[in-house]
Amino acid sequence: MNLKTWFVFLMISIVGVLLALANTPTIFEYHLLENQQSEINKSDEAFNKMMDVLTHQRCMNCHPNDNIPKQGNDRRPHYFGMARGEDDKGFQATNCNTCHNSENNTYSGVPGAPHWSLAPASMGWEGLTRSQIAERLVDKNANGQRSFDELLKHMTEDELVLWAWTPGIDPNGQEREVPPVSKEEFKNAVEYWLDNGAVIPTK
Ligand code: HEC
Ligand code: HEC
Repeated sequence: MNLKTWFVFLMISIVGVLLALANTPTIFEYHLLENQQSEINKSDEAFNKMMDVLTHQRCMNCHPNDNIPKQGNDRRPHYFGMARGEDDKGFQATNCNTCHNSENNTYSGVPGAPHWSLAPASMGWEGLTRSQIAERLVDKNANGQRSFDELLKHMTEDELVLWAWTPGIDPNGQEREVPPVSKEEFKNAVEYWLDNGAVIPTK
Protein backbone atom coordinates (compact mmCIF):
# COMPACT_ATOMS: atom_id res chain seq x y z
CA MET A 1 0.00 0.00 0.00
CA ASN A 2 1.27 3.46 -0.78
CA LEU A 3 0.82 6.39 1.51
CA LYS A 4 -2.24 7.70 -0.29
CA THR A 5 -4.13 4.41 0.03
CA TRP A 6 -3.21 4.33 3.72
CA PHE A 7 -4.55 7.80 4.17
CA VAL A 8 -7.88 7.00 2.50
CA PHE A 9 -8.14 3.82 4.55
CA LEU A 10 -7.48 5.76 7.75
CA MET A 11 -10.11 8.40 6.92
CA ILE A 12 -12.73 5.76 6.20
CA SER A 13 -11.94 4.02 9.48
CA ILE A 14 -12.23 7.25 11.46
CA VAL A 15 -15.53 8.15 9.86
CA GLY A 16 -16.72 4.59 10.56
CA VAL A 17 -15.81 4.80 14.24
CA LEU A 18 -17.44 8.24 14.57
CA LEU A 19 -20.65 6.98 12.96
CA ALA A 20 -20.70 3.95 15.22
CA LEU A 21 -20.23 6.16 18.29
CA ALA A 22 -22.97 8.52 17.19
CA ASN A 23 -25.41 5.65 16.89
CA THR A 24 -24.50 3.99 20.15
CA PRO A 25 -26.73 5.14 22.98
CA THR A 26 -24.92 6.76 25.88
CA ILE A 27 -25.32 5.25 29.33
CA PHE A 28 -27.99 7.83 30.03
CA GLU A 29 -29.86 6.86 26.90
CA TYR A 30 -29.55 3.19 27.80
CA HIS A 31 -31.37 3.87 31.06
CA LEU A 32 -34.14 5.68 29.24
CA LEU A 33 -34.54 2.78 26.80
CA GLU A 34 -34.49 0.30 29.64
CA ASN A 35 -37.16 2.24 31.52
CA GLN A 36 -39.30 2.53 28.42
CA GLN A 37 -38.98 -1.20 27.81
CA SER A 38 -39.87 -2.08 31.37
CA GLU A 39 -42.90 0.21 31.19
CA ILE A 40 -44.01 -1.47 27.97
CA ASN A 41 -43.58 -4.86 29.65
CA LYS A 42 -45.57 -3.78 32.70
CA SER A 43 -48.33 -2.38 30.51
CA ASP A 44 -48.46 -5.67 28.54
CA GLU A 45 -48.61 -7.62 31.76
CA ALA A 46 -51.48 -5.47 33.03
CA PHE A 47 -53.25 -5.84 29.67
CA ASN A 48 -52.94 -9.62 29.77
CA LYS A 49 -54.30 -9.85 33.31
CA MET A 50 -57.22 -7.64 32.40
CA MET A 51 -58.01 -9.70 29.30
CA ASP A 52 -57.80 -12.98 31.25
CA VAL A 53 -60.78 -11.65 33.20
CA LEU A 54 -62.75 -10.08 30.36
CA THR A 55 -62.53 -13.23 28.25
CA HIS A 56 -63.58 -15.47 31.13
CA GLN A 57 -67.04 -17.03 30.80
CA ARG A 58 -68.35 -15.19 33.89
CA CYS A 59 -68.05 -11.93 31.95
CA MET A 60 -68.47 -13.27 28.42
CA ASN A 61 -71.83 -14.95 29.11
CA CYS A 62 -73.37 -11.47 29.44
CA HIS A 63 -71.33 -9.88 26.63
CA PRO A 64 -72.30 -12.05 23.62
CA ASN A 65 -72.12 -10.97 20.02
CA ASP A 66 -75.64 -12.17 19.35
CA ASN A 67 -78.83 -11.63 21.31
CA ILE A 68 -78.61 -14.72 23.47
CA PRO A 69 -77.15 -14.75 27.00
CA LYS A 70 -74.95 -17.79 27.60
CA GLN A 71 -74.71 -20.14 30.58
CA GLY A 72 -72.03 -22.13 32.30
CA ASN A 73 -68.44 -22.61 31.22
CA ASP A 74 -69.54 -24.36 28.04
CA ARG A 75 -71.31 -21.13 27.00
CA ARG A 76 -74.54 -22.93 26.10
CA PRO A 77 -77.44 -20.71 25.03
CA HIS A 78 -79.59 -19.58 27.98
CA TYR A 79 -82.48 -21.88 28.97
CA PHE A 80 -86.06 -21.11 27.98
CA GLY A 81 -85.14 -19.31 24.74
CA MET A 82 -84.19 -16.21 26.73
CA ALA A 83 -82.98 -13.37 24.49
CA ARG A 84 -82.08 -9.70 24.57
CA GLY A 85 -85.55 -8.32 23.83
CA GLU A 86 -85.91 -4.62 23.16
CA ASP A 87 -84.11 -3.25 26.20
CA ASP A 88 -81.49 -5.98 26.90
CA LYS A 89 -83.70 -7.23 29.74
CA GLY A 90 -85.70 -9.93 27.99
CA PHE A 91 -89.39 -9.89 27.19
CA GLN A 92 -92.39 -8.20 28.74
CA ALA A 93 -93.83 -11.45 30.11
CA THR A 94 -90.50 -12.84 31.30
CA ASN A 95 -87.64 -10.45 31.81
CA CYS A 96 -84.31 -11.11 33.48
CA ASN A 97 -85.60 -9.99 36.86
CA THR A 98 -88.45 -12.51 36.77
CA CYS A 99 -85.80 -15.04 37.75
CA HIS A 100 -82.62 -13.11 38.56
CA ASN A 101 -82.83 -11.21 41.85
CA SER A 102 -80.35 -8.83 43.41
CA GLU A 103 -78.44 -11.75 45.00
CA ASN A 104 -77.58 -15.31 44.08
CA ASN A 105 -80.36 -17.71 44.97
CA THR A 106 -78.64 -20.48 46.89
CA TYR A 107 -81.67 -22.81 46.63
CA SER A 108 -82.47 -22.65 42.94
CA GLY A 109 -78.97 -21.84 41.70
CA VAL A 110 -80.17 -18.77 39.78
CA PRO A 111 -77.34 -16.22 39.88
CA GLY A 112 -78.23 -12.67 40.89
CA ALA A 113 -76.96 -9.12 41.29
CA PRO A 114 -78.64 -5.69 41.11
CA HIS A 115 -79.74 -4.53 37.61
CA TRP A 116 -79.09 -7.96 36.05
CA SER A 117 -79.35 -7.62 32.28
CA LEU A 118 -77.59 -8.40 29.04
CA ALA A 119 -74.78 -6.05 27.97
CA PRO A 120 -75.93 -3.86 25.02
CA ALA A 121 -75.02 -5.14 21.54
CA SER A 122 -72.21 -2.57 21.11
CA MET A 123 -70.52 -4.17 24.14
CA GLY A 124 -70.55 -7.68 22.65
CA TRP A 125 -67.10 -9.29 22.93
CA GLU A 126 -67.75 -12.96 22.23
CA GLY A 127 -65.60 -14.21 19.35
CA LEU A 128 -63.38 -11.10 19.22
CA THR A 129 -59.62 -11.22 19.80
CA ARG A 130 -58.21 -9.68 22.98
CA SER A 131 -57.00 -6.62 21.05
CA GLN A 132 -60.40 -6.16 19.44
CA ILE A 133 -62.09 -6.39 22.82
CA ALA A 134 -59.70 -3.76 24.17
CA GLU A 135 -60.37 -1.45 21.23
CA ARG A 136 -64.09 -1.74 21.78
CA LEU A 137 -63.67 -1.23 25.50
CA VAL A 138 -62.14 2.24 25.10
CA ASP A 139 -64.24 3.29 22.09
CA LYS A 140 -66.75 5.82 23.43
CA ASN A 141 -69.19 4.98 20.65
CA ALA A 142 -69.29 1.39 21.88
CA ASN A 143 -68.72 1.65 25.63
CA GLY A 144 -71.64 3.86 26.65
CA GLN A 145 -69.68 7.16 26.29
CA ARG A 146 -67.37 6.25 29.16
CA SER A 147 -64.13 8.10 29.83
CA PHE A 148 -61.13 6.20 31.23
CA ASP A 149 -62.16 7.26 34.76
CA GLU A 150 -65.69 6.04 34.22
CA LEU A 151 -64.41 2.75 32.77
CA LEU A 152 -62.19 2.26 35.80
CA LYS A 153 -65.11 2.97 38.10
CA HIS A 154 -67.37 0.56 36.21
CA MET A 155 -64.83 -2.24 36.15
CA THR A 156 -63.93 -1.93 39.81
CA GLU A 157 -67.29 -1.04 41.38
CA ASP A 158 -70.19 -2.19 39.19
CA GLU A 159 -72.22 -4.96 40.84
CA LEU A 160 -72.42 -7.09 37.69
CA VAL A 161 -68.64 -6.98 37.29
CA LEU A 162 -68.06 -7.79 40.97
CA TRP A 163 -70.59 -10.63 40.82
CA ALA A 164 -68.06 -12.59 38.71
CA TRP A 165 -65.98 -13.18 41.86
CA THR A 166 -68.98 -14.37 43.92
CA PRO A 167 -70.94 -16.26 41.25
CA GLY A 168 -72.58 -18.73 43.65
CA ILE A 169 -73.70 -22.26 42.83
CA ASP A 170 -75.52 -23.53 39.74
CA PRO A 171 -78.80 -25.53 39.83
CA ASN A 172 -76.77 -28.74 40.26
CA GLY A 173 -75.13 -27.35 43.38
CA GLN A 174 -71.75 -26.90 41.67
CA GLU A 175 -69.77 -23.77 42.50
CA ARG A 176 -69.35 -21.56 39.43
CA GLU A 177 -65.77 -20.94 38.41
CA VAL A 178 -64.34 -17.48 39.17
CA PRO A 179 -61.99 -15.56 36.83
CA PRO A 180 -58.31 -16.62 36.98
CA VAL A 181 -57.17 -13.24 38.40
CA SER A 182 -58.20 -11.94 41.84
CA LYS A 183 -60.43 -8.88 42.16
CA GLU A 184 -57.59 -6.83 43.67
CA GLU A 185 -55.12 -7.81 40.95
CA PHE A 186 -57.71 -7.07 38.28
CA LYS A 187 -58.33 -3.63 39.77
CA ASN A 188 -54.60 -2.83 39.82
CA ALA A 189 -54.18 -4.08 36.26
CA VAL A 190 -57.06 -1.98 34.91
CA GLU A 191 -55.74 1.06 36.74
CA TYR A 192 -52.19 0.59 35.44
CA TRP A 193 -53.28 -0.03 31.87
CA LEU A 194 -55.61 2.99 31.73
CA ASP A 195 -53.16 5.29 33.55
CA ASN A 196 -50.48 4.44 30.99
CA GLY A 197 -52.52 5.39 27.97
CA ALA A 198 -54.40 2.11 27.38
CA VAL A 199 -51.90 0.84 24.82
CA ILE A 200 -53.43 -1.98 22.80
CA PRO A 201 -50.95 -4.71 21.82
CA THR A 202 -51.26 -5.97 18.24
CA LYS A 203 -52.02 -9.48 19.43
C1 HEC B 1 -75.26 -10.21 34.27
C2 HEC B 1 -74.63 -9.70 33.10
C3 HEC B 1 -73.24 -9.11 33.15
C4 HEC B 1 -72.10 -9.69 33.65
C5 HEC B 1 -71.99 -11.00 34.40
C6 HEC B 1 -71.01 -8.80 33.32
N1 HEC B 1 -71.48 -7.70 32.63
FE1 HEC B 1 -70.37 -6.15 31.94
N2 HEC B 1 -72.07 -5.18 31.40
C7 HEC B 1 -73.36 -5.66 31.54
C8 HEC B 1 -74.29 -4.62 31.21
C9 HEC B 1 -75.80 -4.72 31.29
C10 HEC B 1 -73.52 -3.49 30.84
C11 HEC B 1 -74.05 -2.13 30.41
C12 HEC B 1 -74.15 -1.28 31.64
C13 HEC B 1 -74.22 0.18 31.35
O1 HEC B 1 -73.87 0.63 30.26
O2 HEC B 1 -74.57 0.90 32.30
C14 HEC B 1 -72.14 -3.88 30.96
C15 HEC B 1 -71.08 -3.04 30.68
C16 HEC B 1 -69.76 -3.36 30.89
C17 HEC B 1 -68.65 -2.48 30.62
C18 HEC B 1 -68.70 -1.06 30.08
C19 HEC B 1 -68.86 -1.00 28.63
C20 HEC B 1 -67.69 -1.35 27.80
O3 HEC B 1 -67.86 -2.18 26.88
O4 HEC B 1 -66.60 -0.79 28.01
C21 HEC B 1 -67.52 -3.12 30.98
C22 HEC B 1 -66.11 -2.61 30.89
C23 HEC B 1 -67.93 -4.40 31.51
N3 HEC B 1 -69.29 -4.53 31.43
C24 HEC B 1 -67.05 -5.32 32.02
C25 HEC B 1 -67.42 -6.54 32.57
C26 HEC B 1 -66.49 -7.45 33.21
C27 HEC B 1 -65.00 -7.25 33.31
C28 HEC B 1 -67.23 -8.50 33.67
C29 HEC B 1 -66.76 -9.72 34.41
C30 HEC B 1 -65.83 -9.55 35.51
C31 HEC B 1 -68.63 -8.21 33.33
N4 HEC B 1 -68.70 -7.02 32.67
C32 HEC B 1 -69.69 -9.04 33.66
C33 HEC B 1 -73.70 -6.94 31.94
C34 HEC B 1 -72.84 -7.84 32.53
C1 HEC C 1 -87.14 -18.16 33.63
C2 HEC C 1 -86.03 -17.79 34.47
C3 HEC C 1 -84.90 -16.96 33.86
C4 HEC C 1 -85.00 -15.81 33.13
C5 HEC C 1 -86.26 -15.07 32.69
C6 HEC C 1 -83.64 -15.39 32.85
N1 HEC C 1 -82.77 -16.27 33.41
FE1 HEC C 1 -80.73 -16.21 33.30
N2 HEC C 1 -80.59 -17.95 34.34
C7 HEC C 1 -81.64 -18.66 34.85
C8 HEC C 1 -81.13 -19.85 35.52
C9 HEC C 1 -81.97 -20.94 36.21
C10 HEC C 1 -79.73 -19.82 35.39
C11 HEC C 1 -78.71 -20.83 35.91
C12 HEC C 1 -78.31 -21.76 34.83
C13 HEC C 1 -77.07 -22.55 35.15
O1 HEC C 1 -76.15 -22.02 35.78
O2 HEC C 1 -76.99 -23.71 34.70
C14 HEC C 1 -79.43 -18.60 34.64
C15 HEC C 1 -78.15 -18.23 34.30
C16 HEC C 1 -77.83 -17.09 33.59
C17 HEC C 1 -76.50 -16.72 33.21
C18 HEC C 1 -75.28 -17.57 33.41
C19 HEC C 1 -74.24 -17.08 34.34
C20 HEC C 1 -72.98 -17.88 34.16
O3 HEC C 1 -71.94 -17.26 34.03
O4 HEC C 1 -73.03 -19.13 34.11
C21 HEC C 1 -76.58 -15.52 32.56
C22 HEC C 1 -75.45 -14.73 31.97
C23 HEC C 1 -77.97 -15.14 32.53
N3 HEC C 1 -78.72 -16.12 33.17
C24 HEC C 1 -78.45 -14.01 31.96
C25 HEC C 1 -79.79 -13.70 31.83
C26 HEC C 1 -80.29 -12.52 31.18
C27 HEC C 1 -79.40 -11.42 30.61
C28 HEC C 1 -81.66 -12.58 31.21
C29 HEC C 1 -82.64 -11.60 30.61
C30 HEC C 1 -82.43 -11.24 29.22
C31 HEC C 1 -82.01 -13.82 31.88
N4 HEC C 1 -80.87 -14.47 32.25
C32 HEC C 1 -83.31 -14.27 32.12
C33 HEC C 1 -82.97 -18.33 34.76
C34 HEC C 1 -83.48 -17.25 34.05
